[in-house]
Amino acid sequence: MSDRIYLYPIWIRFWHLANALFFLILIATGLSMQYAAFIRFDIAVSLHNIFGILLTVNYLFYFIGNKVSPNGKYYKTTWKGLFSRLAKQFRYYTIGIFKHEKPPFPVTKERKFNPLQQFTYIVAMYAMVPLIIITGWALLFPEVLFNKLLGITGFRINDAIHIIMGFLLSVFMLIHIYFCTIGATFTSNFKSMVNGFHETH
Ligand code: HEM
Repeated sequence: MSDRIYLYPIWIRFWHLANALFFLILIATGLSMQYAAFIRFDIAVSLHNIFGILLTVNYLFYFIGNKVSPNGKYYKTTWKGLFSRLAKQFRYYTIGIFKHEKPPFPVTKERKFNPLQQFTYIVAMYAMVPLIIITGWALLFPEVLFNKLLGITGFRINDAIHIIMGFLLSVFMLIHIYFCTIGATFTSNFKSMVNGFHETH
């Protein structure tokens, strides 16, 4: 018997769709620039700049949305007991799930994310995405920040952070999509992001 809980408001679904699309374009153009590959270099640069700006605007929408709507509460956690919660969920993903055990942190209206999911979403959305956005803008206007303030070392460090975050967020996205397949059915979590309803087992 499966139950449905409304967890993904329309604004989060729109944000997420745009975010995923912009990310895919940024990864393709970013990789193409780095390896002078499949997209003509000047076109890749222009597209990367445009979609970087769009991603920033979309991120601000998400950030403010989570501040002013109830969705923000799902990202709130405490340091106390964090490690044991993460370990419990990790044990479930590596052992319990194969023994058909019940999930240690089932999805409810109050708890949309399990601890591992919540932790990775917080790190991705409140550390890595802001870092890639800030370093991206710095690369867009290098004359302001580097020539006058930080010099060539600053430029190199900024560039390295941007590329490392790009790599880590690409890895995050692959793992994220994989974990989205472990829902009530293979496709149920993807359907949630279309109709807003989470399906439980
Ligand atoms: C094609 C790429 C992507 C697909 C197919 C995808 C799929 C999904 C699905 C099915 C969910 C709902 C289940 C859940 O909450 O775990 C979800 C939620 C989420 N995804 Fe993705 N995702 C993609 C890219 C991304 C990217 C690039 C990011 C961030 C950089 C991201 C961040 C999030 C966040 C933060 C949530 C929870 C949103 C909320 O309810 O507050 N996703 N994603």
